[in-house]
Amino acid sequence: MTILALETSCDETAVAILRGRELLASEVASQIAAHEQYGGIVPEVASRNHLIYAPELMERVRRKAKIDMSNVDAFAATSGPGLASSLMIGASIAKGLATGFNKRYLAINHLEGHLLSPFFGNGDVKPNISLIVSGGHTMSVRVRGLADYQLIGRTVDDAAGEAFDKVAKMLGLGYPGGPEIEKRARGGGSARFDLPRSMLDSENFSFSGLKTAVRYLLPRLRGDFVADLCASFQQAIIDVLVRKTIAAAQQCDVDLVTLSGGVSCNREVRRQLGDACASKGFEFKSAEAWLCTDNAAMIAFAASLRLQAGFESKVTEEIDPNLALA
Ligand code: KG4
Ligand code: ZN
Repeated sequence: MTILALETSCDETAVAILRGRELLASEVASQIAAHEQYGGIVPEVASRNHLIYAPELMERVRRKAKIDMSNVDAFAATSGPGLASSLMIGASIAKGLATGFNKRYLAINHLEGHLLSPFFGNGDVKPNISLIVSGGHTMSVRVRGLADYQLIGRTVDDAAGEAFDKVAKMLGLGYPGGPEIEKRARGGGSARFDLPRSMLDSENFSFSGLKTAVRYLLPRLRGDFVADLCASFQQAIIDVLVRKTIAAAQQCDVDLVTLSGGVSCNREVRRQLGDACASKGFEFKSAEAWLCTDNAAMIAFAASLRLQAGFESKVTEEIDPNLALA
C-alpha cells in the first residue's frame, strides 16, 4: 500500500510517501523567513506559499520515491485543526489526485498525526497516555487504540510551545523560540528564578501566568541572566508537563506514556519525562526528533493505520479549522 500525504495546516508545507511501513520520501518546506518580517504567521502569506511549495515538493518526493502518481494507492491530507486557508491547499490537492486517479482519500486530524508519531517504526499502537506538546496545542489524551481517544486535559490559554516562542521573543531570541531557549538553558541554573507552576491540581494546563511572570521579572534583571532565566523557565514548563502526565497515567491505569509535538524535540523534556516514567514504572515512547515538528510522514503514517483498519474519507468531506481529536 503506497500513500502520499500532504500537511499544510499552518506555515509548513510538507509532503511524504509511505509504502507499507517504509518511508520512501519526506520533504518539509519551512516558511519561517516569509513570516518573520511580520512578527507572526500571516494566513494569506501562508496559503500563497503552500500553493508555490506544494507542487515543488510533490515532484521532489515522487522522484525520490521513484514512483508514478498512478502507483499511489491512497492520497491523504491534514483536514484540521489549523488555518482554514492553509488546510484547504493540501486537502484540495489530495482530493483532486484521489478523484483524478480514482484512488482513496483520507482526511487526517493533525493531532492524531502527532499522537501516533511515537509508534512510527516502533511497534503497534498500544493503550497509552499521550502528551501532545506543540506550538498550537498542549493536551493529554487517553488512547485506548487507533481512533479511540479521550481528552484528559488541555491548555486553557497558551500552548507550551507558544510560551517558549513568546518568552524567546521577550528575550530578543529568534523564532521558533523553543530551540533557542533550550540551547541557552544548557549552561544555566534552573533554580535561580522561582517561576510559577500553574493549575497543578487540575487536569488542564495553563502557561500564560508563567509567561507574564517572566515579563514582569525582565525589567528588574541586570547582568548575566539569560541562561539562568531560560533554564528556570524551561524547568517550570517541564515540572508541569511531567506532573500532569504521570498523574494522568496513574489515574487511567495504563502501562505506557507517549510524547509528541514540536516541544518534544527538547532533550530535557524527553529526558525528564522519560526518567519520571521509569521511576513510576511506566514504559515511555517519544516521537523521534525528526518527527516531532510538523511533517507529512506522520500524516501518511496515521493514514496507513486508518486504511489498514478500514477507514476511508469522502472527497466531499470539508476541512475543519477547529477539528477536535476527541
Ligand atoms: O508541532 P509543531 O511543529 O507545530 C504545531 O503543531 O504547533 O511545534 C512547533 C513548536 C514551536 O512553538 C517551537 O518553539 C516548539 O515547537 N519547539 C520547541 C523545541 N523545538 C521546537 N520547544 C522547546 N524546545 C525545543 N527544542
Ligand atoms: Zn503540529
